[in-house]
Amino acid sequence: MSHTSVLYHEALDWLAVRPGGVYVDATLGGAGHTRGILERGGRVIAFDQDPEAIARAQALDLPNLTLVQANFRDLVPELEKRSLTPVDGILADLGVSSFHLDDARRGFSYQQEGPLDMRMGEGALTAAEVVNTYPEEDIADILYRYGEEPRSRRIARFIVENRPITTTTQLAEVIRRATGYRQAGHPARKTFQALRIYVNDELGTLEQLLRGAEPVLKPGGRLVIISFHSLEDRLVKHFLRDSTLLKPLTKKPITPSESEQRANPRARSAKMRVAERTDGGIA
Ligand SMILES: C[S@@+](CC[C@H](N)C(=O)[O-])C[C@H]1O[C@@H](n2cnc3c(N)ncnc32)[C@H](O)[C@@H]1O
Repeated sequence: MSHTSVLYHEALDWLAVRPGGVYVDATLGGAGHTRGILERGGRVIAFDQDPEAIARAQALDLPNLTLVQANFRDLVPELEKRSLTPVDGILADLGVSSFHLDDARRGFSYQQEGPLDMRMGEGALTAAEVVNTYPEEDIADILYRYGEEPRSRRIARFIVENRPITTTTQLAEVIRRATGYRQAGHPARKTFQALRIYVNDELGTLEQLLRGAEPVLKPGGRLVIISFHSLEDRLVKHFLRDSTLLKPLTKKPITPSESEQRANPRARSAKMRVAERTDGGIA
């Protein structure tokens, strides 16, 4: 099991890593980008809400690396607590890692049998609770909003009629029956994306990360965000457009080269946006 970092060189170049600089990797994962920053002489404060990601990085025993097991929504208090503000750059490579997808016990994959969990961290809400206890209408809204699933109502009805649903493959089968077999891609993809985003409040936490980045970055410091679906990319784009402290440096998002997309299917939907902190005092 390993995780291939998406837009590796592009992210490090845009972060403008300089020796002695202090950088936040908000999404440690398999530590790919973190290692890159360290190799370029930077010091890294790496966040991950997943204790398994933190434990894997701890075992690497890398110098100049501070590990923080926390949600990046708490960027500001976690850095202040350690007197680590301001910083020279912040990188976030959003979503789940290959470690998550490959581990059936975590319940992220519709292709492997596992419990309906989908929590990236140690939150209380699981996908099983949503699927088995939420009213049909609320499930339909979640699928529509976070999965952009056009058949959200029909899928929600099938889910409620087939409760209790306890495993990933059971849920995938219910969705398959609700949608029929005629479509490109796996019929469960959008529903699984929606449940994952909802369970982990991925859009809410992303917005809090962006808000936290404004006061924490030094003037001239860079913010680099790699997102994997249109809801995230839209949020980042609009936030940067409206921010008075962050100036977008990329008009159009940067996407992986064709060869990267061929080599790493996870890279296909990646979009990277970069902004720079304008001058002004540190809050
Ligand atoms: C795509 S992986 C990052 C991969 C990493 N850049 C690399 O090169 O190996 C995303 C990681 O961010 C973590 N993560 C996602 N959302 C988070 C959040 N709100 N707070 C903290 N960690 C988060 C996940 O647990 C996962 O390990």
